Amino acid sequence: MSLDLAKIRLQFPILSEFAYLDNAATAQTPQIAIDAVSDFYEDSNANVHRGLHPLAEKATEAYEDARQAISKFINSKYSEEIIFTSGTTESINLVARSLGESELKEGDKIVLTVLEHHSNITPWLQLKNRTGAEVSWIDIDDEGNLKMDELDSILDEGNVSLVSVTGLSNVIGVRPPIEEIIKKAHAKGAKVLIDAAQLAAHHKIDVQKLDCDFLAFSGHKVYGPMGIGVLYGKKDLLESMPPFQTGGGMIRSVSAESFTCADLPEKFEAGTPPVAEAVGLKTAIDWLSQFDWKDIEEHEGKLIELAIKELTSINSLTILCSKTENRKPKTENRSSSIGFTIDGVHPHDLTDILGEKGICLRAGHHCAQPLHERFNVEASTRLSIGIYNTEEEILKVKPAIEEAIRVFE
Ligand SMILES: Cc1ncc(COP(=O)(O)O)c(C=O)c1O
Repeated sequence: MSLDLAKIRLQFPILSEFAYLDNAATAQTPQIAIDAVSDFYEDSNANVHRGLHPLAEKATEAYEDARQAISKFINSKYSEEIIFTSGTTESINLVARSLGESELKEGDKIVLTVLEHHSNITPWLQLKNRTGAEVSWIDIDDEGNLKMDELDSILDEGNVSLVSVTGLSNVIGVRPPIEEIIKKAHAKGAKVLIDAAQLAAHHKIDVQKLDCDFLAFSGHKVYGPMGIGVLYGKKDLLESMPPFQTGGGMIRSVSAESFTCADLPEKFEAGTPPVAEAVGLKTAIDWLSQFDWKDIEEHEGKLIELAIKELTSINSLTILCSKTENRKPKTENRSSSIGFTIDGVHPHDLTDILGEKGICLRAGHHCAQPLHERFNVEASTRLSIGIYNTEEEILKVKPAIEEAIRVFE
C-alpha cells in the first residue's frame, strides 16, 4: 500500500505555506501530537511520580505510557531501558559523563567517524580531556562509505572501550553498516552507541536485533515536540552506571551526608521531566507507526532519486560524496539528506533566495565540521526530506536554484 500523501499533509497545516525540505534539522509535527501536548496541559497537568492526587496519577500514567510506546517503537526488551532526555545531545552527554567517567581511563579508546554530528564528537573530546582517553577516527571513501579496514585496524590495536557512530549522516544521508560495526566491536569487547537522530524517522529500529549497547534520538526529528529525546541503554549497563545528574526524582534516600539512587529509569531522570513533550512524542510515534516502514522507505527513496536527478542536471552543482562517472551518488545506502555545493554561490545566499520563494533548505556546516573539512569546503546546502514531502516540492528546487545562479553570474 502506498502512502496517501494528501491525507498525510492535511495533518500538517504549516506545509500549505512552504516546501519544507529541512527535515534533518527538525521535522514538522502532526496536529494530533500538537493537540496532545495542549490537551495534557488542559486536562492532566501535574508533576509525575510524586503525588497521589488524581492529576498526579493521570500525569504519571501518561508519562509511563509514553515510555512503553517508545520501548515498543525501538523494540527494547524492558521499558526501564528507555531514559527520557532533552534530546540526542543530552543522551550522548549522559553516556560520555556516566559511562565515560566511571569506566574509561588513560589510554582507552573511543572510536568516532568523520560522518559524525558535533553532538557525537564534543562530549567525547571533553571526556578525552578529563580522563586521558584517546579518540580515534574512521575516515570515509569518496562515496561516503566508512573505511571498515580502518575500524578493523583500530580494534586490532586493542583498548577500544566504545565505538560511537551515526546510523545515518545528517549531511550526506549515508547509512554506515551499523550491524557489522556492532558485531566487530563486540568481538573485541567494545561497546557501541548508535546516534539515531536521523535514522529514527526514516528506517525501522530494533535495538534487540541490532544488539547495540546504547542508542540515542530526538523527539523533534521523529515528528514529535522539541525538548524531549531518548537514550536507550542495555539494562545491565545502565544499572552499573552512576547517575548523570542528581536531584529530585532520582533518589531512593538522602541524608545529610550521602544519598542512594532510585532504580531505572528514574536514576537517570533527575528533576521534573518533560511530561507534556513525552505525551506529544508518544502521539507522534503512534501516528508514524500507523504506516508501513516499507512504504515510507519506498516513498522517501523515490524523492531522493528525483532530487539527485534534478540537482545533478545543474552543471555547477556538486553533490557531496558523488565521485561517480555521472556525478550521481549511489543510493543503495543513502536516504533522506543530500548535501551539495554550487560554484560561485554561497550556501547562505542560496538558501536565502530559496527561502523567499517558500522553499526551506539549510546552509552551513550542519554541525559536521570534520566532514566538511574532509571535502575541503566550509559549508554546504542541504536538502532533507520527510514522510510528507511530494515530487512537486522537489521539482520546485531546480528552477529556483537556477534563478539564484543567474543572480550571482
Ligand atoms: C546525526 C545527529 N546527531 C545528533 C544531533 C543532535 O540532535 P539534537 O539537537 O536534537 O540533540 C543531530 C541534529 O541535527 C543529528 O543530525
